Amino acid sequence: MTTSDQPAPAVNALGPASTLLPELPKRAIGIDVGGTGTKGGIVNLRKGTLTGKRLRIPTPQPATPQAVAGVIATILDELLSREKAPSAKSLAVGVTLPGIVIDNVVLSASNIDESWLECDTTELLRDLPGRTSTLNDADAAGLAEARYGAGANKPGTFMTVTLGTGVGTAIVHDGVLVPNSELGHLEFEGVKPAEQKVSAAARERLEIPWDEYGDTLRRFLLHLERIQPVKKFIIGGGISKRSEDFLPFVTGLRAAVVPAQLTNNAGIVGAALYAAEQAALAEVRSSTH
Ligand code: BGC
Repeated sequence: MTTSDQPAPAVNALGPASTLLPELPKRAIGIDVGGTGTKGGIVNLRKGTLTGKRLRIPTPQPATPQAVAGVIATILDELLSREKAPSAKSLAVGVTLPGIVIDNVVLSASNIDESWLECDTTELLRDLPGRTSTLNDADAAGLAEARYGAGANKPGTFMTVTLGTGVGTAIVHDGVLVPNSELGHLEFEGVKPAEQKVSAAARERLEIPWDEYGDTLRRFLLHLERIQPVKKFIIGGGISKRSEDFLPFVTGLRAAVVPAQLTNNAGIVGAALYAAEQAALAEVRSSTH
């Protein structure tokens, strides 16, 4: 049998990696730190939905690590007081940040306070209950979309592109995230970073009409497709609510281009899922050493 004759891998809602992990808890907490608001919620990991209302607190300005950690603690406190809070014993808390994050250390800070650079979030959040894990905001959204939203239960490589203050990208292959792709920072048509031209904020700032914005996005996705061919682009960020205004102009790509399905809650859901999987991975590693 040649490789192309192999049947497509079976991808369940939780991705192939999860078959190697202990069963995830039913619920975890996700906290999405944005430029203006920090939002948190209890996530049902079986369904990828929020259990109860999400809680939003304005992100303090300046958004230093200490100030944001205070808001995260307040949100966590409120969520844990709810009847349907995850049990303290297996509590996983995922936190998103708009920067590169490797091993819970922040390695770029283009859209957040500079004092986040080199911040070890495990150390910063060590007094919080549960096991915290931090990841890039677009990666959280992409993971949620690939597992529960526009890519759910389908094998292949999907790229989520979040259009907001910046442009974030997330690559997920067969349900597994390849983190920190940061393709919004590429040079594009002489502009570097590309997000200066392609973000939702740029559209508003430059008062670009929707058809023109759709065409810019079309050229940007073609550029991305040359670098990383994918099966589907999933367009996220607040602007995805207006996708019918600009996606009709995004044509001629090999990949399908679809709006995100989880919109506002994708970051929270993806963060919770990531944290629960990181906790499960840590358990497997400690039992095999
Ligand atoms: C940051 C990314 C982030 C994106 C969306 C970019 O400016 O570099 O890390 O994912 O904005 O918030």
